Amino acid sequence: MMYDPTPAKPRCIMALLALVVVAPVLKASRSGTFSAQPFLRSLTLTQQLPEGIPVVTFAITKQFAAPHDISAIIDAGGRGFSIMFHDSPEAQRNFGNALTKALSSGLRREDFWVGVFVTCGMDPMPILDRAGLEYADVLSNHGPCKQGEEATMAQWRELEDQVMAGKAKALGVSDYNGALKMQQLDRLLESARLRPVVHQTLLNLRAFDSAELAFFRERNILPWAWSPLGETANADVLSSPALSKIASDHGKSSAQIALRWVAQLGALLCTSTSNPEHVRADLAITKFELSEDEMKALAPVE
Ligand SMILES: NC(=O)c1ccc[n+]([C@@H]2O[C@H](COP(=O)([O-])OP(=O)(O)OC[C@H]3O[C@@H](n4cnc5c(N)ncnc54)[C@H](OP(=O)(O)O)[C@@H]3O)[C@@H](O)[C@H]2O)c1
Repeated sequence: MMYDPTPAKPRCIMALLALVVVAPVLKASRSGTFSAQPFLRSLTLTQQLPEGIPVVTFAITKQFAAPHDISAIIDAGGRGFSIMFHDSPEAQRNFGNALTKALSSGLRREDFWVGVFVTCGMDPMPILDRAGLEYADVLSNHGPCKQGEEATMAQWRELEDQVMAGKAKALGVSDYNGALKMQQLDRLLESARLRPVVHQTLLNLRAFDSAELAFFRERNILPWAWSPLGETANADVLSSPALSKIASDHGKSSAQIALRWVAQLGALLCTSTSNPEHVRADLAITKFELSEDEMKALAPVE
């Protein structure tokens, strides 16, 4: 399958098209997970997909200096997590401690969905050990290897072996943005034994690429939006008057509308917070819907 960048189409038409293309996955996200969606059900993978993937996931960042911070997210209802190779070992251990505590208080491992990211040549086992995980729900490469496609493919084989060894349920990719990387991904897919089920990518009200969304949608790879509120991306996501107006109409915060907009494109969210009020607000975005007109009114000019 070759990538067709279709550059000639007007961008606004592409934007609307993306909304239509991904629209079928919108409604199911009200349940809080993507488990019942035709989108995921239609995947023909040999990987074991988890029962339910939470729409809202929380990153384990350096701000988690104490174990109780992560317990607070779990206590507030957070079940989806994202662990980066560069998150501090301390934060990873704090996650492990919070998970152990949650499991000893009656929650089950399968109640959680945890993504782990590694760079080229990196062994995921130390991260899994520190995070108290027998397996990752999704194990992702952090973009193509800088050393070239051979190295990327070699890493992919290693990640596939981790799935075969029961150390991961499924595989994911991260930051395959732009025509060149998308072509690389297609070449990876040609010889991959296991296909990625998620693609972590920058996606928010200021960073939106309809061609990229359509590309991953065509390949049944679920977008997983990092920086949906623009923090790491340093994007001023929350200041638009249209956003404030829609937030006020729904009785929600601008942050909730910004998150809902991304989720309603059919993406998982990877945000970060250690504030339980914000965790609850973030999780509550599955309880309301934006109209088609509101989605369009917020859509950025690409
Ligand atoms: N794959 C990649 O290449 C890549 C690149 C960059 C980042 N990432 C991952 O993406 C993660 C998340 O990125 P991000 O931190 O930029 O996410 P973000 O969603 O853009 O921003 C998080 C910020 O939003 C605030 N927030 C969360 N919920 C809120 C709410 N309901 N109301 C108001 N403020 C709210 C938090 O502040 P409070 O703490 O005050 O709640 C936090 O500072 C990173 O930690 C990293 O793991 C991945």
